[in-house]
Parts: sequence; C-alpha cells; structure tokens
Amino acid sequence: MEIEEQAALTSGPDFWHTRAVADVPAIMVTDGPHGVRKQVAGEGHGLLDSEPSTCFPPAVALASTWDPALARRVGEALAQECLAMDVAVLLGPGVNLKRAPLGGRNFEYFAEDPILTGVMATEWVAGLQSRGVGASLKHFAINSQETDRMRVSADVDERTLREMYLRAFQRVIQRARPWTVMCSYNRINGVYASQHHWLLTEVLRGEWGFEGVLVSDWGAVVDRVEAVRAGLDLSMPGPDDAGDRALAAAVRAGSLPAAALETAAGRVEALARRAAAAARPGATYDAGAHHALARQVAARAVVLLKNDGGLLPLAPDEPSIAVLGEQARTPRYQGGGSSLVNPTRLDGALDAIKALAAGEVRFAGGYDDVEAAAALARESSVAIVFAGTEEETEGSDRTALELPAAHLALIEAVAAANPRTVVVLSNGAVVRTTPWDAAVPALVEGWLLGQAGGGALADVLFGVVNPSGRLTETIPLRLADHPAYLDFPGEQGHVRYGEGVHVGYRGFDAREQDVAYPFGFGLSYTTFSYSGLSVSTVDGGLLVRVTVANTGGRDGREIVQVYTSLPVSRVRRAPRELKAFAAVPLAVGESAEVELLVEAADLAYWDVELGRWVVEAGQYTVAVGSSSRDLRASATVAVAGDDERRPLTAESTIAEWFADPRGAAALTEAFAAMASAGGGMAAGVADPAMFSLMASTPLNRFAAFAGDAFGPATMAALLKAAN
Ligand code: BGC
Repeated sequence: MEIEEQAALTSGPDFWHTRAVADVPAIMVTDGPHGVRKQVAGEGHGLLDSEPSTCFPPAVALASTWDPALARRVGEALAQECLAMDVAVLLGPGVNLKRAPLGGRNFEYFAEDPILTGVMATEWVAGLQSRGVGASLKHFAINSQETDRMRVSADVDERTLREMYLRAFQRVIQRARPWTVMCSYNRINGVYASQHHWLLTEVLRGEWGFEGVLVSDWGAVVDRVEAVRAGLDLSMPGPDDAGDRALAAAVRAGSLPAAALETAAGRVEALARRAAAAARPGATYDAGAHHALARQVAARAVVLLKNDGGLLPLAPDEPSIAVLGEQARTPRYQGGGSSLVNPTRLDGALDAIKALAAGEVRFAGGYDDVEAAAALARESSVAIVFAGTEEETEGSDRTALELPAAHLALIEAVAAANPRTVVVLSNGAVVRTTPWDAAVPALVEGWLLGQAGGGALADVLFGVVNPSGRLTETIPLRLADHPAYLDFPGEQGHVRYGEGVHVGYRGFDAREQDVAYPFGFGLSYTTFSYSGLSVSTVDGGLLVRVTVANTGGRDGREIVQVYTSLPVSRVRRAPRELKAFAAVPLAVGESAEVELLVEAADLAYWDVELGRWVVEAGQYTVAVGSSSRDLRASATVAVAGDDERRPLTAESTIAEWFADPRGAAALTEAFAAMASAGGGMAAGVADPAMFSLMASTPLNRFAAFAGDAFGPATMAALLKAAN
C-alpha cells in the first residue's frame, strides 16, 4: 500500500465510516452504548434523526442490576440490532468511573467502583462481540467529567490511575478483547489522551496486550502525526485530508517512522476485514423480544431505597391510586448527547400502573399544580409521586445535587396530604434525598430505565418483580460530603484527583461519614440470611463460600457482595473494597451456597516504588453482605502475598535498612566496625533515643554526619552485601 493510502485509512471519510481503500472495505461504526443510534442516511448530525432501535437501560441502570449475565444478554441483543442495521462497531461501553455525583455523563457509566464496572462491562462486550459486532471501550482515560472535557488535564497520581481509573479498562481488555478502544478528549497529567504514548502504547498495548484499533473520540485529535506516533490508529470523524497529507509528508520526511503509519493502517485494515466478514446482510431482530428484555433489565435495575411498614408492594386491589408528576406520563428514560436513542416504542409508568391496578388510578401533572395534586393524594388510598432530574446530558456537568424545586414542592405537599406516599425517582445519577425522604415511607430509585422503564416501575410497585437493584454509587447526605467535592470539576485547565484512591464509598468509609444510602444498598420485599462463611486461598486469591437463605415471604434475588480490607498495610487503603459479587435468585425458604472468587489480580495494589502490581502479604478481612454497610459475616485470612522486597539504596533510610534482614545484618556489622574504630555516630545509633532520631535519615545523609568513618567504600560494600 502506498503511503498516501495508508494515511487515508487512518481517518474516516465521513462521520460514521472507515474509508474504503483499494480492496479494504468501509465499515460503519455508531453510538452506543445502550442502543444503536444509526443516523438516517443523508441526514445531518442531528441527534434525533436516527433509525429506531431498542433503547435499553443506560449503564447507570444496567449496572444497578449487579447481574453480569443480564449485561451479556443486552450485549447480544445490541449486536443483533447492529447486524440488522449493518453496523460493525457499536461505540461503547463507557467505563469511566463515576468520580463525582455531578458528572454529566454518569448515566452512561457504570459505577464508582472499578471491579463492578469491569465485571459488568466485560460481559457486555463479550455478549456483543460473540455475535460478530465490535465494541469500542471508552473513554480512555480519566474522562470523569464534562466540564472543559476537550482540554482539561486530569491530574492524577499513578497508583490512583492504575487502581481506580484504569482498572476497569484493563479488565475488559484482557478478558473480553474489545475490537476497539476509544481515547478520550481530555489531557492526562498535561498530555492529550490522543497523544499519550505511555498510555496508548506502553500500557494499553505493551502491558495489557491490546491488539485492536485505537480510535479517537470524535474530534479528540489535535495533531494527527503526534497521535499516530503515540499509538492512535484511527482519527474520527473525517474527512481530514489535510491530516492525511501531513501524515504522509511526515513519513516521507523521516520525522515519523514509516512503521508507525503502516501499523496503524494495518490495524484499521484488519478491523475492516474482520467486521466485513462478520456482517449478516438481511439480518433482522425481534423488536418485541428486545423490548421485553429491556423491561426485564429495567425492573432488575430499580433500587428500593425505603419501604417503611411494608407500604410496597401495592396490592392489585388498592382502592384508589393518585399518580402525580408529569414524569409518570412522559418518562425520563435516557440522557442527552451522543447516546440518545430513538426508541422502537416507549412505555410510560402511568399506563403501566393502570394496566396492573384493579382500582381507580387518577393522574395530575403536579409540577405546576401542586394544590390539585395534593388534593388528589388526599382523596386516594395511596399516592405515587414521580420526581427526577429534568435533564442530564453529555457536554455539561450538573450544577446541583438537589431535585428541581417544583419536584421537591410536589413531594412535600403530597407527603403532607397522604401518609401512604411513594416517591419514584428518575435520574441518571444520584440526587439528594435528604431531608425530604424522612417524610415519605417508600422511596424507589428508578434511574433512567430505557424505553420499557415505565412497565418495569409498575412491575416493582405491584410486586410483579421483587426489587433486587443495588446502588452503584453512594447517595451522600449533602454534596459537600463527597470525597471529590473540593476538587471537582477543577479550574484553570486542571482537575486534581485529590481524593486519590478514595473514590466514592472508599472516601466516605475512610472518613467514617454518615451517608443517606450506601454503595451496594437496596431493599427487597423479602429477607435473606447469611451463614457458614468460609474463606480459603487459591492461586494467590481468595475463594469465598457463604450460604444465603431466603427467609421472607416472597421469591427474590440477593446481591451477595464481598469486601476485603487489610488493616495493617504498607499503603493507605480504603476500609473496605468490593472484590466480588453475585446475583442469587432464591425462592421462599430456599438457600444456596454461593461461591465467589477474588482473583489475586483484584487483591493487588499498584506499588509506585516497584512500578508493578503487588499482592501485599498480611491478614485480610473478608466480609460478605448485602451492602457496603450491611456486612453480615466476616472472616480473617492470611495471604502469603507477592515477593515485594525492594532493593536497598544509598537513599534508603536507616530504618529501611534495619527492616530488611540482609540490610540489617550488613549495617549492624558496619556500625560495629565503625564503633570499634571510634566512630561516635555509629555507636550512638545503638542508643534507642538516638535511633528514633536517626531512623528516617537516608544512609547517604548519615554518611555526611559520620564523616570519614563512613566513606564511599563503606557505602559500596553495604550496597553489595544488602542486594
Ligand atoms: C462522545 C463519544 C461518542 C462520539 C461519537 C463523542 O462526543 O464523547 O462517546 O461515541 O462522540 O458520537
């Protein structure tokens, strides 16, 4: 292939295709992630004019199911729709962490935890790709805010980067091998993601073995030559003839190695051929079945936050129901921006409630006629208020945690009018629930549930489905409590990830702060008991077994969660970290032994001194439970850990030398020799008070105190003996 042809392959000819060059076919890529947004041919880039497709629950809801098998089924269904629409790559999933509650795209992301995110996304990608459609894991990396998203530098230390923000990417890449990865817009520690050689080449390809195509986010490339040099393959959207020419010129001038361009073009070619071979012209899908799947997922995503006195589920013969709030009739079911799907159909909760209720159902819009709504509530046997955010969209972060004032006023008035008030929330990320939730006996978190969400909410309200959704993000008492509060969204071009590894619940737990509803929380209409916890080590990781029983009066699903902690550690750690989980269906009276595996890789922390993952040796606490703050059983287990000896250097402190067996022996001998030769400093260190004073002194600095008694020869001999 000519250099010019290679260059042409590395940019798109339009918004949604790769370029056909010679016999390399063009393929179509499109958004994603929770439905196929295929823009109508010939139309502009309007978000609304796309072909209808199933609007599955966005990631915020899918993740709340804590059910990897469901994520896989959604991936498979999305693939069928892609095949039917001749789409080769679906641009998702988004696995950035929900670092801060106001993040504008939190609805597109899974969780504030990397393992939950990674497990769910792995299954989604595996499901999608099992049918011959590629995924695009995005946005690589550290794209956890919308404010200044195209320029801001996410300033983050390496341990936080590896353990929190890259961990889900690494997991999905190594386990599900996505066909493509999409780099983000932002800078990372000052360098654009699209030009970040360390991230794109050394880590992604070198360490993790990624072999697919690295595509830019739309418009993320600032300099085509620098992007290819860093490891980017495909710049989108196109056309970008000037960029293509610049690339070819750089190769001809010798300023860009020919191999860099050849490799990038080769990867795009391989993707196009692979996708073309997987295409299924004439494929169809069953829109009705996909709607039913969307409803099933949505119902499992609903999180029951409060249910005083067992107000829910409602009996089918509830005499009279007041449904209040326009969102019951006009659902908020997805967020704005590139993920906006034109649904095949749309169910509102009001109609679905009417379909399940035997008694009278009356409705009021509520947000601007609060009095009428309260009156209706007063006359009815139960009142259901629909409240939520008005808008969440890519491109901007939210500005407040509170619900809109009109919705708050409605909740307050209805709760005062009828003691049997249920509040149903629709929001893409957490909203503040205090202090108003104290006045309502039942609270249902309905997220953004996709096109079948209305039916799913009715299923939960009437107990057709027993809720099993769990929070994937903490609901704080107030915004100012949040670990990211002081450092979000940054200023003057920088956002400092100041809370480090203490993202979300890790930060709340470390500060022993009260929260409104903790990570992992969600109620059921039945109850579960835990017994017989046992933990053993296997392949450097942990095998956790626990028996869970349904002790209540309804069939249900428990989300069993495993958290580990290492109270005595070399590094600062969160009090507990989610390491494994399982969704367990249990009929009334049934019990099951659940087995959960915590792999060694998931126990590891990133050691910045050693520059690698380390499983630290020690006594780990393993707790299992129903949420991060409802732990039902715990055990302690000794983990042998990795060899984490770090070489002693002249910069190592006296304490570090003494902490190391070989170092201690060598130094003791050297000090003894110095002492017998009259070296006062060496003799002094034997005195405990002196030792405390000197312990943190690097050995080369001690040498300065000790003068001739501790010369270069002594140091050299010590280093030789110790290492
Ligand atoms: C978004 C991506 C999306 C792309 C294509 C960008 O603005 O950040 O998530 O896939 O547009 O629409």
